[in-house]
Amino acid sequence: MTTTSMRPTAAPDIEQLPEPPLRRSTEIQGNILAAFNKDYMTFRYVRFPDDKGAGGRGWLSVMLNTVSVTEAVEDFNEEFSLSRRAYGQDPSLTATWVGVSLTFQGLLQVAREPEKVKQDLTHFGSFVKGADGMAASLGDEGTSGPESWLFGSDRTGVHAVLLVAADTEEALDEKLRNITAADSAHGVVLVHQDDGRTLTGDLRGHEHFGYKDGISQPGVKDFHREDRDNPGFRENRAGAVMVEPGEFVFGHKSESGNPPEGPKWLDNGSLQVVRRLRQDVSAWNDAVVREAGKFRPSGISPELLGACLVGRMKDGTPLAQGENPVTGVGPGRNDFTYENDGQGKLTPCAAHIRRTTPRRFEPTQRHRIMRRGIPYGPAYTRGNEDTDRGLMFVCYGTSLERQYEFVQRIWSNNPNFVPGTSGAPNGIDKVTGTIKQGDPGSPDARIALADGHEGTVSMDRFVRTTGAVYAFTPSITTLRRL
Ligand code: HEM
Repeated sequence: MTTTSMRPTAAPDIEQLPEPPLRRSTEIQGNILAAFNKDYMTFRYVRFPDDKGAGGRGWLSVMLNTVSVTEAVEDFNEEFSLSRRAYGQDPSLTATWVGVSLTFQGLLQVAREPEKVKQDLTHFGSFVKGADGMAASLGDEGTSGPESWLFGSDRTGVHAVLLVAADTEEALDEKLRNITAADSAHGVVLVHQDDGRTLTGDLRGHEHFGYKDGISQPGVKDFHREDRDNPGFRENRAGAVMVEPGEFVFGHKSESGNPPEGPKWLDNGSLQVVRRLRQDVSAWNDAVVREAGKFRPSGISPELLGACLVGRMKDGTPLAQGENPVTGVGPGRNDFTYENDGQGKLTPCAAHIRRTTPRRFEPTQRHRIMRRGIPYGPAYTRGNEDTDRGLMFVCYGTSLERQYEFVQRIWSNNPNFVPGTSGAPNGIDKVTGTIKQGDPGSPDARIALADGHEGTVSMDRFVRTTGAVYAFTPSITTLRRL
């Protein structure tokens, strides 16, 4: 990729760039195209009362008044980035965001014609089956299986997911007080609540294993202000590939050339995946040290092995060099592919970021996901090893099967997928991949680096699923009509 060679020396003024239509959407809920990006994000999983939908509909009409839309969130994000202030520096630059989504069971509960909803969604198999119905096929078995989930299984079924995101705990609590009052007024029951919190200090913007997260995202045509000479400029992500909005929002052109299939009421909505992924940081650290020591001819550093398993150093710097040496290195770097590294000598084929986005090895952009996760639980320190901590993984797309599930099942979990040239040392994603019980293939990862070091990494997955839901994030019009 050589986009950087075209980059103008002076960055253009964002406001001078033409404003694309989706940026002004008051129909699409926030967080799908415009990220909530807050330090505090609470997830509330609720059940509606069994009263022919009246309680659920009453509750949704209250939520309708508080739900955030793309235009407001993007205006805020733009103002924030233009102010060039560090997060939290300007107390007047704050906002509290709310998003609401419905599971298939939740939609049936509030729909006036549930049979029609069922008919309309015949081709949305995974959504209809729900995250628990799909769990085994995605490797969520045993201690990661729905039997032990805190929400989302048959036992702990969920009708709606509410996201509440704020800059301060006080603002969050204030919003939550209004929401719990609406719950009580409409007989809505809280199944479980998760409190997402960005980590602080040196770990700001990092996930619990210590790696910087949230760097690579797809760019969206018709949403980002684009500088043609500098694709991805708006997001400060040179190298971000721009994909059609229909990959993330129904009713818009997708990479197939047409809008995704589905009934009209899906338009301007998106499918949401929420997964509560518990991370055993202590066990990951120990395993990385142990496995790094086994590399031949001499061991490698645990830092290097960890980076090999993720694809980036802890500060976010990618192991990939990029095709254009003038790009340099740095934590925000995203302008690379793996084309010059077919054998995985720089970024091993088992690396999490290589398996979840193989870049040019996959010719189309049909498996991209919009990630909106946030950590939960306190940062790891010695002495608090057993505390529950992890990632509230959230992503959006218009096909569960072709996007989230494909990435998890066909790329992360699958030892036969080689995101490199045929015969390259390979292995499953050691961060989030797992081989389904009884399936053939090795769960190990073979790594052979450019400096001659090689080894076979044999370690468990230290990320466990402790809750999951698939939900639909409707447009404002659809919410109003429910
Ligand atoms: C990127 C960690 C779960 C998909 C990343 C990055 C880190 C990371 C550190 C690099 C930052 C970046 O490029 O933005 C984790 C951890 C997880 C987790 C610790 C679980 C606790 C998942 C899951 C999926 C996923 C479940 C999807 C099945 C991705 C994708 C990227 C990414 C698509 C961007 C890759 C790229 O475009 O280069 N993750 N992740 N992650 N992750 Fe994860």
